[in-house]
Amino acid sequence: VESAQAVASICKNLKGSIPAEFIRPEIEQPAITTYHGKAPEIPTIDLSDPDEEKVVRLMAEASREWGIFQVVNHGIPNDVISRLQAVGKEFFELPLHEKEAYSKPPGSLSHEGYGSKLQKEVDGKKSWVDHLFHKIWPPSSINYKFWPKIPPSYREVNEEYAKYMREVVDKLFRGLSIGLGLEGHRLKEAAGGEEIEYMLKINYYPPCPRPDLALGVVAHTDLSTLTILVPNEVPGLQVFKDDRWIDAKYIPNALIVHIGDQIQILTNGKYKAVLHRTTVDKERTRMSWPVFLEPPSELVVGPIADLLDEEENPPKYKAKNSRIICSANSTKFLSEKKKLLLCF
Ligand code: SIN
Ligand code: FE2
Repeated sequence: VESAQAVASICKNLKGSIPAEFIRPEIEQPAITTYHGKAPEIPTIDLSDPDEEKVVRLMAEASREWGIFQVVNHGIPNDVISRLQAVGKEFFELPLHEKEAYSKPPGSLSHEGYGSKLQKEVDGKKSWVDHLFHKIWPPSSINYKFWPKIPPSYREVNEEYAKYMREVVDKLFRGLSIGLGLEGHRLKEAAGGEEIEYMLKINYYPPCPRPDLALGVVAHTDLSTLTILVPNEVPGLQVFKDDRWIDAKYIPNALIVHIGDQIQILTNGKYKAVLHRTTVDKERTRMSWPVFLEPPSELVVGPIADLLDEEENPPKYKAKNSRIICSANSTKFLSEKKKLLLCF
């Protein structure tokens, strides 16, 4: 059966080997390419700090230099996060055939549904991860068909998480906007305002006998405006900084904020989408819950006019509809993505 979970259980009997399509070329293998020397850590920002100017400055700096930061004291109660994790874990621990009731319909243009990296990537390799996608906000965008009915509290817990998440999103957009010298509302408005769609993904990375050779998710930048992620306690997120792959530190109850491609475009490159990937663990299951903040489907996204000037800061990106590339298959996706980010 084609799921990373099924492959993982088969591998248990294979004395520590994994199928060839999961073995990465050397330039991607985590054992060879992870940097273990002294390196700076991904910035951590306390969102409850009463010194708002400082918070804005730290967010803007992190977004220019890293494209990623962690936030603590963000306002989402710890128990809301724990319950989000518990119900997601319960779903993934169901037998495969029960999860398959939520499978992404073949040919559907939306990502929504349960799935496995069935389709090979461009180089024919596979990723050690299964996933579930469904929207959690706004209500008009939600398709409850893709929300697990088991456990029964899944819906209530996810609705509560979405409610708190929206407040964090507003704080982040506001800070990032002011950090560019814009009015607080500008960046969120340019990204779709109240129509921004919140797409939740659950990543499920089963234990892998050869974490030195395989990857969970291959190196990429997110297509979103922002991605806000909670991981479980099993480390695995790596970011590419100063030409090296470094591990993200696990901070209990922190949210990990990624700058995505759409913010890079909106800010004309002032804020940078972070290149990142995930590794897997030999003994333990890693899980993560990113929420991708996506512009509404009809929105055309280009650099914000106030950030441009003809002489000093001409536009680096063409205005584009972000969804053109979201619905593409992986080969097309990559070439479209290159065009998106290098189009002038
Ligand atoms: C991803 O970038 O898609 C996954 C990140 C993670 O699992 O931490
Ligand atoms: Fe990502």
